[in-house]
Amino acid sequence: MKPKILITRKIADEVVSKISEVCEVDMWPDEERPIPREILEKKVEDIEGIFCLITETIDEKLLNNAPKLKVISNMAVGHNNIDINVAKERGITVTNTPGVLTETTADLTFALLMATSRRIIEASNFIRNGNWKAWAPMQLTGQDVFGTTIGIIGMGRIGEAVARRAKGFDMKVLYYNRNRKHDIEEMLGVHYTDMDTLLQQSDFVVIMAPYTPETNNLISHRELSLMKNSAILINTARGGIVDEDALYQALKNNGIWAAGLDVFATEPVPFDHPLLTLPNVVTLPHIGSASIRTRIKMAHLAADNLINGVTGKIPAHVVV
Ligand code: NAP
Ligand code: GLV
Repeated sequence: MKPKILITRKIADEVVSKISEVCEVDMWPDEERPIPREILEKKVEDIEGIFCLITETIDEKLLNNAPKLKVISNMAVGHNNIDINVAKERGITVTNTPGVLTETTADLTFALLMATSRRIIEASNFIRNGNWKAWAPMQLTGQDVFGTTIGIIGMGRIGEAVARRAKGFDMKVLYYNRNRKHDIEEMLGVHYTDMDTLLQQSDFVVIMAPYTPETNNLISHRELSLMKNSAILINTARGGIVDEDALYQALKNNGIWAAGLDVFATEPVPFDHPLLTLPNVVTLPHIGSASIRTRIKMAHLAADNLINGVTGKIPAHVVV
């Protein structure tokens, strides 16, 4: 008998076919909206594997309903939506999709950095709103990127890929990481600093660390007050790493110059969120890895992890 698994969103047919060869598949048919929690709680009762997204909270309560579960395959590299401690206690394998999204997410991070520093969204809206009456010397002037200093918090796969792009812009690259990365320092000529020095010296502060109890509100009032008034904060990691109230105050009171945000503490970010009222914030709906090719690769990798997990093989990317 094939193992029963649940896919929590409609995904590409080619990936579903691959999983169906090995598993009995139940797939939530909506592509845009998450499976309602009460339905998810019911559907996990007799499954051995779950293919889920960052929109599903896989917590103790859900796992209590899933006595047969062997593998949780998250179609993301970040896995803060899953209680990995409870999963580990119960011998459930948790997998993720690192690597295949690294370059795409670094591209988006750099796009956000460029858009924020050079006010691309404001400038585009300036024309569309009929405000371009004449060229003017200081019109829509922003901050330089080339030759400035970038500080990367979290020098992992994506942090390193951002550093490589920054070197192409002749930027001085500072980084702060839990463990020092001598190999990357040697390879890319990046400089390790403590976090306060990074915040004080950087023109761009880019967050690329995972969301954990340790990184919750890592950037709050004190950290923002250390940054230059001309500095820009970019967050493509997870919203909860930045204290959004403190960020709003810093942006409103010219404590820092601008912010580029792909992620929010609550997603989707509420339409009336104060940060959305500020002209010096560029906001994106969590699209870091959203290229067609990369999302398909992520789905295949998550499928392979799932299949291996439910058939007793060791998946390629095990978190716990
Ligand atoms: P990774 O290779 O695991 O890199 C994370 C880095 O952060 C590691 O070098 C790690 O250091 C460091 N770190 C962990 N805790 C830290 C702390 N408390 N202080 C400082 N550094 C810390 O992961 P990745 O593939 O680069 O992905 C990073 C994160 O990006 C993911 O967790 C995810 O949340 C986010 N992400 C977002 C998108 C998006 O669509 N916006 C897309 C992909 C990823 P050690 O090596 O010492 O552990
Ligand atoms: C997306 O946010 C991911 O962690 O892959």
